Amino acid sequence: MEDFDNRQSLTPIFTAIKKYVESNPAPFDVPGHKMGKFKTELATYCSDMLYKLDINAPIGLDNLYHATGVIKQAEELCAEVFHADECIFSVNGTTGGILSMIVGLLSQNDKIILPRNVHKSVINALILSGAVPVFVIPDYDLENGIANGVPFENYKLAIDSNPDAKAVFVINPTYFGVCSDLRKIVEYAHSKDMIVICDEAHGSHFYFNKELPVSAMDANADISSLSMHKTAGSLTQSSLILIKGDRVDVSKVKKAFSMFSSTSPNHLLLASIDVARKKLYFEGEKLLDDTLALAKYARTKLNQIKGIKVFDKHYCHKDGRFDFDLTKLVIKVTNLGLSGFEVYRMVREEFNIQLELAEVGLVLCILTIGSTKDDVDRLIEAFKVLSDRYYAIRKTKIIPKFKFRYPKRVCTPFQAFNAPKKLIVLEESVGEICGESLMIYPPGIPLAIPGEVITLQAVQLIEYYLKQGGVLLSDSPEGYVKVIDKNKWYLGSEVNYDY
Ligand SMILES: Cc1ncc(COP(=O)(O)O)c(C=O)c1O
Repeated sequence: MEDFDNRQSLTPIFTAIKKYVESNPAPFDVPGHKMGKFKTELATYCSDMLYKLDINAPIGLDNLYHATGVIKQAEELCAEVFHADECIFSVNGTTGGILSMIVGLLSQNDKIILPRNVHKSVINALILSGAVPVFVIPDYDLENGIANGVPFENYKLAIDSNPDAKAVFVINPTYFGVCSDLRKIVEYAHSKDMIVICDEAHGSHFYFNKELPVSAMDANADISSLSMHKTAGSLTQSSLILIKGDRVDVSKVKKAFSMFSSTSPNHLLLASIDVARKKLYFEGEKLLDDTLALAKYARTKLNQIKGIKVFDKHYCHKDGRFDFDLTKLVIKVTNLGLSGFEVYRMVREEFNIQLELAEVGLVLCILTIGSTKDDVDRLIEAFKVLSDRYYAIRKTKIIPKFKFRYPKRVCTPFQAFNAPKKLIVLEESVGEICGESLMIYPPGIPLAIPGEVITLQAVQLIEYYLKQGGVLLSDSPEGYVKVIDKNKWYLGSEVNYDY
């Protein structure tokens, strides 16, 4: 029998909210719905409790940006459970966590070593901080058209070639559940006096089961942001920033965090972290054992269906694919003669099943501590129907093997963001310097970022993805792109930092 610490049964924020609501206060503060006394159909639909619990900052509920009471207690309990020295609750997702970590810890012209397949919040953090990206090349799976983790050697080369870099950024895991060799990267980065910042948006559950890949804190990374809401059962937008050791200045991260978050943080989000942490502390290991068993069942059944292939640990045969999160069902559908985008839409429209994400040749289903066998059985049935209908009738869908090459970079994202721009037709943009991030959503990984020269391949990739049903996220009207107006802009010598 494991020794549990009974302090972890406390839920300081949730308890304080309940106490406040049950005391039946007369509210002369905001929010203006006054604990649901302003009746709306949403309040009626959700029962009155949702609005009652939606309070702002009454006495006793602490201040997220200067926590000394219940929020501080809840953050301390959370830090212990996640093997961290400090924990900050975020109500602005891991997007807010990433902005806070990078802007808080890096100044203009500080170098940060990072993979190219980062989430758009990282590119935005580079724009805001003025930090200089040194990109490392991830493992590209050309057969399936996805980017994975980064081989250690690629990080090592970048670290050795940029001894002045301040930070190394690691995704743990990628959207598709693939991990780099985090322990080795951390050890090497620390030996060169660099801090390690992690994006664990998809890795909150790693902290609760030994069968899962190593977590950032257990790998001794300095700081990590994780989306509790994605895989650890709290409400959408609630995330954590975890800090370990003394390499990072926590006060700088907190300062940046307060700049990017509302002064009216939603206490329901905070309470949802509080109760999820308690449940995971006491039951997380068992719940994740069950999730992994469910994933195994799903994998076995799906793999028996003609034309379907689900990734497993065999996918990880090299360093850039060091480990794999088995709770992610990455389902290859090309042998059905369908694209992932088509399958994503079909299963929703025909079977009322919502998948997480589609790529050209894949769909991604995320299993969590909330998943049920009934839902998994519905998924299996849907794939059986699709297989009966399409397998051996349609030709296998071939994914063109686009070998992604880094575009030449002329300036930093910060310089490009602040440069004069003009709007041009996307097809005519080859050779121009990109003035915005161009990315296909999901998964929101940039094909061109501000400051990079737009290549023919980037334009072809965008056109290809759009034809396959992807959505292009950009700041410009459809078919156009913002580029730097070189006639109105001067920048000194060109830079190229990529490895
Ligand atoms: C890899 C990665 N990092 C960061 C984020 C941002 O997380 P959040 O949605 O919690 O803001 C996402 C969101 O999907 C993501 O996929």
